[in-house]
Amino acid sequence: MADAAPGSAAAQAAGLVFDRAGSVAGEPATETPRSLPVCRQWLGPALAMGASIRRAAVAEAVAEIAPGLHWMHRAGSETAAPTFRNGHANALILGPRGIETRDDVWIGVTLMAPGTTYVDHDHPPEEVYLSLTPGEWWNAGMDWTDPGMTGLIYNPPGIRHAMRAGATPFLALWFLPV
Ligand SMILES: [Fe+2]
Repeated sequence: MADAAPGSAAAQAAGLVFDRAGSVAGEPATETPRSLPVCRQWLGPALAMGASIRRAAVAEAVAEIAPGLHWMHRAGSETAAPTFRNGHANALILGPRGIETRDDVWIGVTLMAPGTTYVDHDHPPEEVYLSLTPGEWWNAGMDWTDPGMTGLIYNPPGIRHAMRAGATPFLALWFLPV
């Protein structure tokens, strides 16, 4: 688990994302809003959980923009186990296919149904995750961890990682300086 103390890796990565997002505007969206069955079933309950937490303002902001998001399955998950394929959805807020199209930062959101585990994956950019519901993260340097509503998850560049929902839906934001 990471902390957001000034100078920490998580704070520096998130700082890069917000500095870039705040200094130059991206292009208009290229995609139209799209929902998925898992969103129709679990986004409302996940956001309702988020409304009662310390990060309620973030959950409220996500609720406000959620209808405009283009929700997608993970690329390549067509042949994955149905529990994963049907149990997750991703959407970019800023980034390719986001509400704001840009290629210097990705800010996105992942929703998962209860009991869903996201596939192990990696990517060159470092990444900060912010949880809006209970959930656990793993990476090659860290056991499964629930960061709670005060912690963050930081994944160094290229590290293998995953996340999983428990008995409740899972909702989290991710921030990548690309
Ligand atoms: Fe990731």
